[in-house]
Amino acid sequence: MSEELLSPGRTFGVIGAGVMGTALLKGILDQGLVSRQQAWGAAKTDASCEEVSRRLGVQAVTDFAPLVGDAEILLLAVKPGQVARITQTLTAAGLRPDTLLITVLAGVTTARLEDLLDPAQPRVIRAMPNTPCLVGHGVTVYCGGRWTKPEDLSRARAIFAAAGRTFPVEEHYFNAITALSGSGPAYMYLVMEALADAGVRVGLPRELAMDLVAQTMLGSARMVQETGRHPAALRDDVTTPAGCTIGGLLMLEDGKIRSVLARAVEEATRIVDQLGKPKN
Ligand SMILES: NC(=O)c1ccc[n+]([C@@H]2O[C@H](COP(=O)([O-])OP(=O)(O)OC[C@H]3O[C@@H](n4cnc5c(N)ncnc54)[C@H](OP(=O)(O)O)[C@@H]3O)[C@@H](O)[C@H]2O)c1
Repeated sequence: MSEELLSPGRTFGVIGAGVMGTALLKGILDQGLVSRQQAWGAAKTDASCEEVSRRLGVQAVTDFAPLVGDAEILLLAVKPGQVARITQTLTAAGLRPDTLLITVLAGVTTARLEDLLDPAQPRVIRAMPNTPCLVGHGVTVYCGGRWTKPEDLSRARAIFAAAGRTFPVEEHYFNAITALSGSGPAYMYLVMEALADAGVRVGLPRELAMDLVAQTMLGSARMVQETGRHPAALRDDVTTPAGCTIGGLLMLEDGKIRSVLARAVEEATRIVDQLGKPKN
């Protein structure tokens, strides 16, 4: 199946094989989109490289420059502040004009990446995945840059589809999406932790409380996706007159849960806008 993504003799490299980079690499390896021989990862420290090789069975290096020439697809997954240094290394290492560069860096636009890169007219795709990619239930949005070809978008879609659902979007939505679904798992975990604590408060064993909360969150999400009904309508199904649920909901509304969530996403959007900008 590897011919779908790569030409013979070419490789797939992940520069920044950390949380996100390895989650995505695991997805494409598990789906057989590239073989372990064709894939490699790069990290800053030897310890991270050893961990990546041990977990994923691929070559992992601290100096990726010698591997750039053979790369057909490079996934950039370092921190946004490192983009200038990494692009310098890519250029010095002789990045080929036909190499597809896929970036998941929060806040870094395709235009900025294109400007930082030599050769001229680099093929760039910007994507925003989230950490549930590690278990095949991520969500990733993606868009092309100025010189992206239609087949590049297909290949990016295949890579991210190996780790969950995908949506092509216009680039101007990226900061909002980063704050909503990129950061989103962290919000969900906070809610889950708080609800499990609440279960303990009313007398449940912690492990049971966590299992109940996790399955309730998963089941509720599937209800929204599979029924296509509005969450408010689904909520009404749970809410009997003068029952316990309406009492609980009233407390959540008293605590301004809607505006707190909206403000959280608004603040995260504001911050992500700063992340990808050059530092003075
Ligand atoms: N985590 C998320 O939920 C998420 C979601 C969407 C997008 N993203 C984006 O994904 C990117 C990575 O985030 P992350 O959470 O995965 O961070 P992370 O776990 O810290 O991974 C960053 C990786 O980059 C490596 N690295 C640092 N300098 C390097 C260099 N010079 N050459 C090669 N590798 C180098 C690090 O190596 P060491 O391990 O040796 O330090 C580490 O493995 C960020 O730009 C972020 O915006 C993250």
